[in-house]
Amino acid sequence: MSDTDTSVLFEPFTCKSMTLRNRIVMAPMTRSFAHGGLPAEPHVDYYRRRAEGGVGLILSEGTVIDRPGARNDPGVPFFHGAALDRWAKVIDAVHAASGAMGPQLWHAASAISKTAAWDRDTPVESPSGLHAPGEPHGEAMTEEDIADSVAGFARAAADAKRLGFETIEVHGAHGYLVDQFFWDGTNARTDRYGGATLRERARYAGEVIAAIRIAVGPDYPIILRVSQWKQQDLKARLAHTPAAMADWLVPLVEAGVDILHCSQRRFWEPEFPEIDGEGGLNFAGWAKTLTGAATMSVGSVGLSGDFISVFRNQVSAPTDLDALVRRMERGEFDLIAVGRALITDPAWANKVRAGDISAMLPFDAAALGAFV
Ligand SMILES: Cc1cc2nc3c(=O)[nH]c(=O)nc-3n(C[C@H](O)[C@H](O)[C@H](O)COP(=O)(O)O)c2cc1C
Repeated sequence: MSDTDTSVLFEPFTCKSMTLRNRIVMAPMTRSFAHGGLPAEPHVDYYRRRAEGGVGLILSEGTVIDRPGARNDPGVPFFHGAALDRWAKVIDAVHAASGAMGPQLWHAASAISKTAAWDRDTPVESPSGLHAPGEPHGEAMTEEDIADSVAGFARAAADAKRLGFETIEVHGAHGYLVDQFFWDGTNARTDRYGGATLRERARYAGEVIAAIRIAVGPDYPIILRVSQWKQQDLKARLAHTPAAMADWLVPLVEAGVDILHCSQRRFWEPEFPEIDGEGGLNFAGWAKTLTGAATMSVGSVGLSGDFISVFRNQVSAPTDLDALVRRMERGEFDLIAVGRALITDPAWANKVRAGDISAMLPFDAAALGAFV
């Protein structure tokens, strides 16, 4: 048993029409088991088990919008067409287990999958035909392509609401389409979607959020996931100062984002240590301070190693939650997302609540081979 009082993690949270039973969120994690883009019975059971295991909000694996080039892996599910009836079964099962859920809406653009070898038969599109700075891959999107992708995000969000999902998350992080617009290394456009400042390069994301807001109405919560790091460059940074971060994120909150999901590899790392020191605010802490929006943090919760362990076949051991609890008690951020710990252990949240740290499981990359 642990001495840590984790009750702050189990306070309810309300944002607009969504009320969560606690602050623990399952992080979106691609699992690549959706043959033909369709989630099936194993998906229903997989997400149901996390709801039964006490997770407050489940974010689905990345699911792609209705654009031909949106996937970079043949096992990624669609969030359109025939897949929607399958997703209806998932959300019904999650509700039956008292859970709440939102699909992560994604367009992978020119990002190359590290895990899926695929002879793709769909076009590759991105803001400027680049995969990374100086690395061409695929075609630059026309204004028509851009408008169609914005409409695709909005339709997917409207479908999520219609099916009963409590929220949606737009994947604006990790070097995929939305983030490729943010990043000057992949956005060399000279039209209104490009520019020297983050505010200018955030125009595309702002249009996506505004279109979703119109599609879902004023009372439906919208989450946007953002990151400094990219899968193409783990050391990349979009905002080097709080002023630049405000220039990036404030317009997006004004466009309609309710919750900023601030992706870090390790939640305890200070975002601007030169300002508030080694114990300073993390990304979600600064985003909350600068925008006033609710924020969600993430990164190595309950585990000794970060998610790069997946690609190195390393095992991460369970750790205590003291540092997380201290930050949440200070109100640094509102929600905490948990990734790998929930892949190996669907009952992780209930074990935390019971203080049953000794029952926590290590994360082993081999666990990705099947749904547990
Ligand atoms: C197998 C795997 C798949 C992932 N897929 C996605 C994804 O589809 N969308 C996304 O935003 N992040 C994805 N991530 C990142 C996670 O959401 C999370 O930010 C990361 O694993 C750090 O959290 P953790 O240390 O608790 O695992 C993935 C991570 C893993 C391990």
